[in-house]
Amino acid sequence: MIVTTAQLFQHAYGKYAVGAYNINNAEQAMGLFKGCIQSKAPFIIQISKGARKYTDKRMLEAIIRAASVIFPEAIFAVHLDHGDEETCYECIDSGFFSSVMIDASHDPFDQNVAITKRVVDRAHAKGISVEAELGMLGGVEEDIKVEDGNACLTDPDEAKTFVARTGCDCLAAAIGTSHGAFKFKGKQSLHFDVLQKIKDRLPGFPLVMHGSSSVPKDEVDRINAAGGQIKDSMGVDPNEYLPAAKLGVTKVNIDTDGRLVWTRVHREFFRDKPGDFDFRPPGKIFIEEYAKFIASRNQFLGSAGQLDDLRATLKK
Ligand code: G3H
Ligand code: 13P
Ligand code: ZN
Repeated sequence: MIVTTAQLFQHAYGKYAVGAYNINNAEQAMGLFKGCIQSKAPFIIQISKGARKYTDKRMLEAIIRAASVIFPEAIFAVHLDHGDEETCYECIDSGFFSSVMIDASHDPFDQNVAITKRVVDRAHAKGISVEAELGMLGGVEEDIKVEDGNACLTDPDEAKTFVARTGCDCLAAAIGTSHGAFKFKGKQSLHFDVLQKIKDRLPGFPLVMHGSSSVPKDEVDRINAAGGQIKDSMGVDPNEYLPAAKLGVTKVNIDTDGRLVWTRVHREFFRDKPGDFDFRPPGKIFIEEYAKFIASRNQFLGSAGQLDDLRATLKK
């Protein structure tokens, strides 16, 4: 069942974080739904601009609609990840999305406010909620590359002003993470001090953490042992998801980790069976392995086991 992102946030806020997972194809969708049903967790499906271009946006929509019929117990929202203004309007008008993200974080503050406000007005008129971003993550966001040195953490006072001026429904805050598999040099923690200050200024307001993949070392080691060359990777410690959730992080974005599962499965499969060329056997393994991975993330997020209570709340 597709619900609004606001309904998921209302249930989760301050208790757990909802996993927001990017999908691009049917195998990812199958693994995601299976993993969330196995772990009894609500979830958010994210579609990026790149994903909409990869096959065709109608294909992804059809895959998601089919998955919700195959897994009728699933409760989830559909979200546009890192949208520009034009893509936000397309998704708002499509009638399929629960929420959109307008990412104007690379623009100056006042411009970010103006763009976000325009999107909020259009979205709210259709009952769709809006995620905005303030501050800048390091790494690569769609076509924009932010060098680590240029990444800047969200200013808590600015965050309060930004939310008041835009009317956005949740805020992606930069608290030390970045997109991709190379987030930190050595062990590093989230900036809980900044998060606490944002929460003090915006009590009860859902925050979003982008760049949340944990980049498991054993996964990368297996990829490299099967011919990969991923060096010096480092992700977020998943034990920090729940403490962040208690401080208002209600949506945790995970994409890179899913790509690592895919790469490990396929590299190992074709290394061990060099004469094979049917993509379905590794595809089946991927679905199962991705489901296992999703279920394990939902445990860390605290969303595992929340499905029945959420369902009961929605019926009231
Ligand atoms: O933040 C970006 C997401 O990981 C989506 O990546 O634009 O390559 O689909 P993508
Ligand atoms: P990762 O690259 O850490 O998976 O982050 C994904 C993300 O933030 C999608 O918006
Ligand atoms: Zn992101």
